[in-house]
Amino acid sequence: MKKYLLFMVHAHLNFRKAEIESLADLFNIESIDYSKYSDQSPFLIADLKNDEEASTWIKRSILTKAIYEYWGEGETMEDLHKSIKEQPYTEKYIKDYELDSFKFEFETYKGNSKNNNVDRVKQIESFRYLDFKGKIRMKDAKQIYTVIEKYQPVSENIGGDKPVYHYFGRLVQRSNRSAMEKYDLKKRPYKGTTSFEAELSLVSANIAQVKPGTIMYDPFAGTGSFLVAGGHFGALVIGSDIDGRMIRGKGAQASINSNFKKYGESEKFLDVITMDFTHNALRSDLMIDTILCDPPYGIRESIKVLGAKNPEKFEGKEDVEIDGEKAYLKRDYIPTKKPYSLDALLDDLLQYSTERLPIGGRLAFWMPTANDENIETIVPMHSNLELKYNCVQDFNKWSRRLLVYINRGDGYNGSTNAGKQRTSNFRDRYFKNFN
Ligand SMILES: C[S@@+](CC[C@H](N)C(=O)[O-])C[C@H]1O[C@@H](n2cnc3c(N)ncnc32)[C@H](O)[C@@H]1O
Repeated sequence: MKKYLLFMVHAHLNFRKAEIESLADLFNIESIDYSKYSDQSPFLIADLKNDEEASTWIKRSILTKAIYEYWGEGETMEDLHKSIKEQPYTEKYIKDYELDSFKFEFETYKGNSKNNNVDRVKQIESFRYLDFKGKIRMKDAKQIYTVIEKYQPVSENIGGDKPVYHYFGRLVQRSNRSAMEKYDLKKRPYKGTTSFEAELSLVSANIAQVKPGTIMYDPFAGTGSFLVAGGHFGALVIGSDIDGRMIRGKGAQASINSNFKKYGESEKFLDVITMDFTHNALRSDLMIDTILCDPPYGIRESIKVLGAKNPEKFEGKEDVEIDGEKAYLKRDYIPTKKPYSLDALLDDLLQYSTERLPIGGRLAFWMPTANDENIETIVPMHSNLELKYNCVQDFNKWSRRLLVYINRGDGYNGSTNAGKQRTSNFRDRYFKNFN
């Protein structure tokens, strides 16, 4: 085992550990001691087999910056050098890389970006004792040695001027944060009011353990944000939505399909269909590996499913024909819809997941909740599903949470609360500003 230093993003703290843990589990990496993880710190030292394992773990991560082979740490630069010289493996590391081209980089945490008082050249020279013999290359250096400085910030928004701690390591793998730019909604051809931002949709796909070459389904696909995230991680994606306008998009240049084309990932896009999730038409023997979605919050639209609000009005009219063809078989037929509750829809989603996911497969979805102190948040539960994560993203008066379940099968006997009222009146209360 070797020591590695993980440098994480200090944001979305409710999601950060879930992401690295899910990725480690996905790649069967069992040696990480999470007892050392703290939401207060962006650093974690982990024992891993080798660089390959470190790289596999982190290259998909969104809430991590990079992983380094650990060389040492200390409060001051002097302490840091002392620590590097004392590590038993330093001599071997130097031998392993001494002929490689290299460069030095500096990373800061909570530092003041306008601070020009640091003499980086002098700092680099202080590592002279490592005696690397390779060429210094600013571009395409084979090894990148990094000093990470931790500062004491002056206030929440003002970074500090003097580092209070230092780490040193050799870069092994940068994370996948650059994907956030590629999938940035501002640059996406087809999007809408329901589109989900790039960062947390990619994080959701990581926590859901979306795998290359497997099938991912989003039953409430809308403009396809989660399909794009799933496709990015190599899954073959299928979506459905009750609203055909979402599925069709706005012409050839602005549709879910055209988004996939723009990203050069068309082969990941299986298809999308207009369909009420509760009248699901996907073949019952189609194995779905992961379900990832953002069910309707009922904010912009009330929740509807196929059916009649007043069925008696339609009695005997099932067989109405137009031009000799059954009305409901015509292409332009618009079926009637009736209101439905978010609680019932989520119960349906849990039940469907137990029927379609393999044992160990993950269901991940977002659920809105009000932040009223006197109302307990009740998370939907199903006896076959283990609730693995409940990650909250807080807005002012409401929050949404990513709920992640693992299908454990019939013998699991977990708790259940199907049929219970849980998310009542979220829409009404949202529009009344939760007063
Ligand atoms: C919060 S939006 C999802 C947005 C999506 N993540 C995106 O990227 O645009 C919820 C979607 O669920 C759809 N929906 C509502 N009721 C549905 C139902 N019964 N079956 C399928 N889709 C439904 C809505 O049309 C809406 O597009």
